[in-house]
Amino acid sequence: MTNKTTDLTSSENRQVIIDSLPDGPLMESNYRMETGPIPEPVEAEVLCRTLVLTIGAGTRAGLQGSASYAGAPKTNIVMNGTGVGRVVKSNDPRLSEGDLVVCPSGWQEYSVHKGKNLTRVEDDIDPAHYLGALGTNGLTAYFGLLKVGDPSEGETVLVSAAAGSVGHLVGQIAKIKGCRTVGVTSTAGKCHLLEDKLGYDASVSYRSDDFRAELKQACTNGVDVYFDNTGGDILGNALFRMNEHSRIVCCGVVSQYDTSNPAGGPRGIPGLLVNKRIRMEGFLVFDFLEQYESAREEIKSWIKSGSLVPLNDEFNGLERAPAAFVDLLAGGNVGTRIIRVAD
Ligand SMILES: NC(=O)c1ccc[n+]([C@@H]2O[C@H](COP(=O)([O-])OP(=O)(O)OC[C@H]3O[C@@H](n4cnc5c(N)ncnc54)[C@H](OP(=O)(O)O)[C@@H]3O)[C@@H](O)[C@H]2O)c1
Repeated sequence: MTNKTTDLTSSENRQVIIDSLPDGPLMESNYRMETGPIPEPVEAEVLCRTLVLTIGAGTRAGLQGSASYAGAPKTNIVMNGTGVGRVVKSNDPRLSEGDLVVCPSGWQEYSVHKGKNLTRVEDDIDPAHYLGALGTNGLTAYFGLLKVGDPSEGETVLVSAAAGSVGHLVGQIAKIKGCRTVGVTSTAGKCHLLEDKLGYDASVSYRSDDFRAELKQACTNGVDVYFDNTGGDILGNALFRMNEHSRIVCCGVVSQYDTSNPAGGPRGIPGLLVNKRIRMEGFLVFDFLEQYESAREEIKSWIKSGSLVPLNDEFNGLERAPAAFVDLLAGGNVGTRIIRVAD
């Protein structure tokens, strides 16, 4: 990443700009740092100072042009992202200086927003949780598993990218609902972590030469719900483990994001779906917007009772965001990747 910043003062707004679109795997050099003026809010707008940002694998799909909700990828703009910010100036009576809000801050220190588009959050918990378990990824885990996957007690739930932001929460929610859980991840070290720290009953490395056989062994009673964060070969193998009347929750396709040549779909569709009467359903978390508040309450109650332990995985400093993103796509994160931008 090139750094055009020379003289930083608190009256400047440091920003991470998309310098070029990735041609192959994402690189830090796809970004550059710039410093601009702090924007001024006009009527009905507020100025927010970014405290924390989150980076998730899905953002890579936006740079690839494969996320319908993100539009066509562009260069020479501030990198998009969600943050929690402190209101430092308000021209909207609904928000006051000092309020904490979730906002589409982008990768920058200051941003201006219409007050009506912001969600005010309580100051009672580390704000990073509003980007993880109580944010979009927690809600994705909650609605994807409970509303789309619809698991019953005693059923087996298989999760890919099981140590990631969404995955580590899906596994824990499935346990709360009395299911048996099997997680898929990259390395042996992460497999241990799935079982020892995240409560998975079994784990499998998709990098193993015997992945197919090991997956079969881990899923002794077959799979009733497969929460698919990855697509690709993991989905291809999972399909052959699905029980009759089972459900595949299509949440994302992380195995195909960090490339210019995404692979085609796996074998077995639609034949296996027909023979085993499998329901395979995609969803976007925004489909459940009206139920966010009640879901957040339930997730918060699980955190308070200790039955759900959200993990955040942190980098310090806005300038480290590109490195944190590249590392995430290589499997470096456990839980939700957070960038601390200011205290
Ligand atoms: N439908 C929705 O509304 C919605 C909302 C939010 C997120 N999503 C989707 O949910 C999925 C998970 O997002 P997230 O934010 O939880 O992810 P994340 O925390 O960013 O984790 C990404 C993980 O994916 C794994 N991964 C990377 N490359 C892989 C590959 N080639 N094959 C298999 N695994 C690979 C890595 O873990 P390993 O070490 O295990 O490889 C990495 O840690 C993404 O597909 C995202 O697009 C969907």
